[in-house]
Amino acid sequence: MKEKIKEIIGKMTLEEKAGMCSGQDTWRLKSVDRLGIPTVMVADGPHGLRKQEAKGDNLGIYDSIKAVCFPAGCAVAASFDKELLEFMGGLLGEECRAEGVSVLLGPAINIKRSPLCGRNFEYLSEDPLLAGILAAAYVKGVQKHEVGTSPKHYAANNQEHRRMTSSSEMNERTLREIYLTAFETVVKESKPWTVMSSYNKINGEYVGESYRLLTDILRNEWGFDGFVVSDWGAVDLRVQALKAGLDLEMPYSDGSGDRDLIEAVKNGKLDEAVLDKAVERILNIIFRYADARGKDAEFDCEKHHGYAAHIAKKCAVLLKNENLLPLSRKSKVAYIGPYAQKPRFQGGGSSHINAHKVVGAYEAASNTPAYAQGFAADGKPLSEEEIKLAVETAKNADVAVIFAGLPDSYETEGYDRSHMRLPDSQNELIAKIAEVQPNTAVVLHLGSPVEMPWIDKVAAVLNMYLGGEGCGEAADALIYGDANPSGRLPETFPLRLEDTPCYLDFPGDEKVYYSEGTHVGYRYYDAKNMEVLFPFGHGLSYTDFEYSDLEFSADKISDGEKITVSVQVKNTGNFEGEETVQIYTDSAQNKYRRLAGFKKQNIKPGETKTFEIELDMRAFEEFDERLSDWFCEKDVYTVYAAHSSRDIRLEKQIKINTTKTFNLNVNRNTTLGQLLDHPATKEATSALLAKMGAAVSKGEEVSEEVRQMLRGMALSLPLRSLPSLGFASREQIDGLTAQMKALEEKFMQKENK
Ligand code: GLC
Repeated sequence: MKEKIKEIIGKMTLEEKAGMCSGQDTWRLKSVDRLGIPTVMVADGPHGLRKQEAKGDNLGIYDSIKAVCFPAGCAVAASFDKELLEFMGGLLGEECRAEGVSVLLGPAINIKRSPLCGRNFEYLSEDPLLAGILAAAYVKGVQKHEVGTSPKHYAANNQEHRRMTSSSEMNERTLREIYLTAFETVVKESKPWTVMSSYNKINGEYVGESYRLLTDILRNEWGFDGFVVSDWGAVDLRVQALKAGLDLEMPYSDGSGDRDLIEAVKNGKLDEAVLDKAVERILNIIFRYADARGKDAEFDCEKHHGYAAHIAKKCAVLLKNENLLPLSRKSKVAYIGPYAQKPRFQGGGSSHINAHKVVGAYEAASNTPAYAQGFAADGKPLSEEEIKLAVETAKNADVAVIFAGLPDSYETEGYDRSHMRLPDSQNELIAKIAEVQPNTAVVLHLGSPVEMPWIDKVAAVLNMYLGGEGCGEAADALIYGDANPSGRLPETFPLRLEDTPCYLDFPGDEKVYYSEGTHVGYRYYDAKNMEVLFPFGHGLSYTDFEYSDLEFSADKISDGEKITVSVQVKNTGNFEGEETVQIYTDSAQNKYRRLAGFKKQNIKPGETKTFEIELDMRAFEEFDERLSDWFCEKDVYTVYAAHSSRDIRLEKQIKINTTKTFNLNVNRNTTLGQLLDHPATKEATSALLAKMGAAVSKGEEVSEEVRQMLRGMALSLPLRSLPSLGFASREQIDGLTAQMKALEEKFMQKENK
């Protein structure tokens, strides 16, 4: 194949090469018939096939083919289930092959920095490890059908406000640990055919024009070997973008981008070899798809609809349940709210699917509940009479189930939310019903957290998220216990918007300051020990699980090694159910724990299962700007086995044996504390501190308080300050600095051997 492509490129004209680097129309790439290069099509994703035969658009305005709408990113992330994501990816891959789509534009894996981001429904999590692992599984599933994917939007596109021109401003550690990690995981674990670069800038540079992001990191460091495609309309300076590593401009720019490339080659501003490389990457994918044509599959919408409902069942999160759910189909149940008939199952914008068939929980219920609308689907209140009727209907039943959630206009691509409230009509009705009906359950349909002022007044809350076209059947099965909820929150539900980490900075404008750094989501709330409505990883079941025997496959881990963490979990209840064991590790640089791994398994009543989760050094490392690399600061870390970020069941310590260390680059401004921390200069510095201590105390006993104070002060002394404190002459300090420098160099030489 490689030779064939090189041969084709050798025959292409400059115009054909430049033309290959931008779209023919909204969804298709150009063909070169004389050379046998076919036209291929791409389409959105991520949770269904939005293929447009006629007029195309990137905002989901014009029509698209009928397709199955699977649960959105917010929902599938709550499954914490790699196998499920791979399964769903496989279904989408089948549909793409059947419809002649070469690349599905997804998964969307930007981190949920603020609950207000309009596209959070499409994204997976506030945690980069969870997002990366689940996205990698989805990519694997799609690509096994020889259809490509496009993890998006690389990177730090965490809001809709001014998404095409704003700059996400952050330090390197935040960028690496929070906003790049999910992409790194997907690229390394599942080799996506393409990556979609984002609209925004990072630290003042358009991502689509950043050689460091698109080539140094994405390709050279992580090994990405597909093509980079721009977000639609994102390209500004075409020649600079191509040089940076942005191969394909989509959709097109009326030929101006192509002309810029041709011009630049002709006037020597662009090496034609760079253009050839981009063309080669694009042709690799075109032919990889085209040559696999024999794999074309049929897809059966009815069958896939059933799968969509199956997936939705495994995503829903039971947030609260005070012995109300599951219900008996014999009890007198009232369904309140329009979402019982027409559930909100997806979000607005480029991911909006022309759903094959949507079944509401009311239609799915075999026991024909009573029904009252109670409020309008768009959030507006109904008449007093209709509200009264809804309250009466709820009151006269044994149980009231209120199907609530965010209306379409509250969250969508294109703009962010300005608050975290449900419509007043819903909050008021829920409160009214809870007053007269103690057996009230709320079923939520939303893509991002909401405040719940009525939470103490209702007995149960089941979050379906945006559960796709099968969410009504799924809700029915979960409400009556035909299925046991097993979802866990992939994001924190805070008590109030003001509590959120980036509340003071969001959404920013020309520059968006990520001043919360790595303190995103649960990291922030845990570091500040703040109360939240529902924590990251939270989710109830109709049964209970008991944890025991947290063990490691080894008592220490060194660079390049992995350890297996095992936990025994027993189902101590009467319901079969799935438990997700979450493994966290403590941070050396911050006051929080981080998710390091997870595993979900089904356990029968009374049964005990072993959960094994593999950790590598990245489970303990943090990005160290001194080293410009991942680094383990401590030599002992605590590993936690948990049911959620706030429900720690077991913990155990593990030794770290890293050979990595950082260059101190000893100089006159290096402090004694830094010298004491570095293995190369630790011993010599301890001796110096002892000498200084003796000089100060002049042999007298000093109190512990004074000793602590002196030590604290000494550790922050730069070498250059010692003469001014009478500890040494300028010459002696120059000698000491040279000595420390020599010690470090000797140590680093030994390390780098
Ligand atoms: C949109 C979205 C992107 C989508 C593309 C094509 O603007 O940002 O996620 O894949 O354009 O519709």
